[in-house]
Amino acid sequence: MDGRVMRAIVYDQHGQAGQVLRLSEQPPPAPSAGQVRVRVLSRPVHPGDLAGVEGFPGAPRQRFAAPRTPGLEGMGVVETVGEDVRDLRSGQRVAFFPVPGAWGEFVTAPAELVVPVPEGVSDETAALMLVNPLTLLTLLRAVEDAQHGQAGPVVQTAAGSSVGKLVIAAALKHGIPLVNLVRSATGAQTLRQRFPDLPTVSTADANWRAQVRDATGGRGAQVVLDAVGGSLTGELAGLLGDGGTLITYGQLGSGSTPLESLALAPRGLTVRGVSITRWLTRTPAERTEDVAFAARLAATTPDLFEVAADYDLADFAKAVDHVRRPGKSGTVLLTSPAS
Ligand SMILES: NC(=O)c1ccc[n+]([C@@H]2O[C@H](COP(=O)([O-])OP(=O)(O)OC[C@H]3O[C@@H](n4cnc5c(N)ncnc54)[C@H](OP(=O)(O)O)[C@@H]3O)[C@@H](O)[C@H]2O)c1
Repeated sequence: MDGRVMRAIVYDQHGQAGQVLRLSEQPPPAPSAGQVRVRVLSRPVHPGDLAGVEGFPGAPRQRFAAPRTPGLEGMGVVETVGEDVRDLRSGQRVAFFPVPGAWGEFVTAPAELVVPVPEGVSDETAALMLVNPLTLLTLLRAVEDAQHGQAGPVVQTAAGSSVGKLVIAAALKHGIPLVNLVRSATGAQTLRQRFPDLPTVSTADANWRAQVRDATGGRGAQVVLDAVGGSLTGELAGLLGDGGTLITYGQLGSGSTPLESLALAPRGLTVRGVSITRWLTRTPAERTEDVAFAARLAATTPDLFEVAADYDLADFAKAVDHVRRPGKSGTVLLTSPAS
């Protein structure tokens, strides 16, 4: 593009994000037919982005033929519109997902994955407008599938996370009997203050299992929504009533739990993994509805799109460090200038 260069965060191999990520300069990508080029102003650093850099557990760690740029979500301004694009125009404020390379100053994106930002929605909220609400929808659908028409208690781990707070808001709206699990007394206190109508239990309490059992009416949970996994998985299966479902959607924890230790067969338990990486398998009409939900949520409840901090792209190492900081509230953003 006219000899211009853009900044991008790249990595050449899987490994600890703090060690393998580096700042690079490269030509901005050019849009093909049906695509737009977006000057990205802000993009989140999701825990999933870091997991992708590090290599998912069980998958082989690779060195790549060409550097990769993390990030699938962000917001910015349409700079160039490719042939055959009818509904987007240069200068328009947009959000996008899933578009690889969001941690660069420009992305090219198929027009159908680019969404106009509703008026009144800030750049910060717009940068977070898609992934977490679409994750919420994915989780709610998985809960509904697991309930077979008979709603029972739902327990969620990492309840103070950005996704966890969306789940809480949905539970309050739809009357889902939700029990929140967090890992510290401080985290529990913060969540109880903000959402006093739902029980919150800290796994730091010696009797946390009994507290959860009480909060689920002594029957055990019908569903556990889990973003922690690892060595906690066995405990979580123990919180389920017979016939219950463990829905796993994240891997914040460490360690592992052998499948055989979960007594799946005798207790009739189900373990199900869900991910928005499969969101593109929904029909275009379904995706349009999902995106409209996300845009509405961003416009009406911006407090559910909390930002922990903004860092310039060049300060990516500090941003990565902040994502991992215990007690962080909200999502860390990486920003780049408008010109
Ligand atoms: N499957 C999907 O498609 C999908 C999509 C989006 C997100 N996710 C997953 O959803 C989870 C939450 O994402 P987010 O962006 O909402 O996170 P976030 O806002 O960065 O919050 C992370 C939360 O996790 C808690 N946490 C971190 N490590 C933990 C551990 N070892 N044990 C217990 N709690 C721990 C933190 O608690 P403290 O307050 O105590 O620090 C914090 O509340 C992540 O696992 C992410 O990968 C999955």
